[in-house]
Amino acid sequence: MSRILMVASEATPFAKSGGLADVVGALPQALAQLGHEVAIVLPRYRSIKLDNAQRVWQNIGISLGWHTFTAEIYSVRHRDVTVYLVDIPPLFDRGGALYGHSDDHRRFAAFCHGALAVARFLFTPDILHLHDWQAALCASYLKTRYSLDPILRDLKLVFTIHNLEYNGRFGRSVWGDFQLPDYLFSPDFLEFYGDIAVMKGGIIFADAITTVSPRYAEEIQTPEFGFGLDGLLRSQVHKLRGILNGVDYSEWSPETDPRIAARYSASDLSGKALCKQDLLDHFQLPSENLQRPLLGIVTRFAAQKGIDIIQQVAWTLMYDDDVALAVLGAATPHTPDMRFEYFFEHLRSVFPDRVGIYRGFNNTLAHKIEAGADIFLMPSRFEPCGLNQMYSLRYGTIPVVRSTGGLENTVDGETGFKFWGYWPPDFLHAVRLALDEYRNRPEDWRKRMVTAMQRDFSWTASARQYTTLYHSL
Ligand code: ADP
Ligand code: GLC
Repeated sequence: MSRILMVASEATPFAKSGGLADVVGALPQALAQLGHEVAIVLPRYRSIKLDNAQRVWQNIGISLGWHTFTAEIYSVRHRDVTVYLVDIPPLFDRGGALYGHSDDHRRFAAFCHGALAVARFLFTPDILHLHDWQAALCASYLKTRYSLDPILRDLKLVFTIHNLEYNGRFGRSVWGDFQLPDYLFSPDFLEFYGDIAVMKGGIIFADAITTVSPRYAEEIQTPEFGFGLDGLLRSQVHKLRGILNGVDYSEWSPETDPRIAARYSASDLSGKALCKQDLLDHFQLPSENLQRPLLGIVTRFAAQKGIDIIQQVAWTLMYDDDVALAVLGAATPHTPDMRFEYFFEHLRSVFPDRVGIYRGFNNTLAHKIEAGADIFLMPSRFEPCGLNQMYSLRYGTIPVVRSTGGLENTVDGETGFKFWGYWPPDFLHAVRLALDEYRNRPEDWRKRMVTAMQRDFSWTASARQYTTLYHSL
């Protein structure tokens, strides 16, 4: 069994803006269940309370260019895993979103130094497992500044790409702030079209690269999905593989979910109607909508999620197909785009009796939509894995998805509806196939719900694949 230290910028229940948090919250627990010793390092954001945490290290000096910071490390036990919190108040004790600050490069460079201090002094792992660009600088520092360190030099590095779009791109003017050797500022290393992409260090220096579905592992090797890194990924394909994310069914199951109005299961679906009524009440929508198909959306308002093709079919669906719509959307911390938010507000102003929207992050409402909607829309432009469609399957809320990335790997013709082209008419057609079955063939629909609810995406299978990978290193 291995000692594994995960480094990431989010993990439930500590900090979350998207699926990364669900994965880093659940995968370490699943690995611990398999007998590994696992710890996580996170930044200590202002929202993370230290009530049950212990200070385990202090006065770690971090020097980055002209700036110096002092970090403290707190530790807290969460179920079967130890969580280390890197506390650097000038960088993380602030309001606003988790990312999108003008000094993000410095924040996560300093965080990575804190994480390496954890690896050096507090929890020396066999495997250092880094997630996304925010943790990627650990790899560059390990292979340069710390390359002779007798403890750190032998660690095996795994780098997981959750989303290639966010590659940690910064202008070359901040290069000095990373305090990395200058030879790394070249196209063979971190330079990216004259800028810096810190994710490249994770890809280049890792012993193994994973991404969060087998399909996405293939897609990112193409220009269509590679965000300019497809050539690099093709050159590293020998160490790249896709491991599908799982679902934490202790959080996401209609049989036990305390956040929904009534519990239900594949053998007794009756509670789902109460959940639908509760969702309508939440949005103050009239009960006559119980007779209409209720379409649900839970998303970050990012171009990735296909919001633009939802916009293009929404009017038709509202005018011609007599549906109701429940939308939960939060601005994405990386690239906020208000146009999407205004669109749904506008739609509600035209159809106040059939459209509910909540703008912001609301975990309880996410559960209520998974349970209360009939159909879940996820027409993503690309989707590394996607968790919401797997949650929808479990809640018997039939997903209509574009067949990309993890959506392709998790939804099939028996459980959902898929379309291929990124093209509004194709999406509309898929939604209409779903509406037709829902309205005209209730027995088929019920069978589809039950089949969907019985699909199993629990973490154990994925954790076993990670174990095999760790052992191979
Ligand atoms: P991504 O990580 O790209 O946003 P995923 O489908 O992998 O997409 O994961 C999204 C996670 O974030 C799910 O747990 C989902 O319920 C949650 N989520 C997304 N948007 C919101 C929101 N506005 N409010 C609450 N939870 C949200
Ligand atoms: C990213 C991806 C999403 C994936 C999640 C967890 O946010 O956009 O598809 O499910 O990471 O891996």
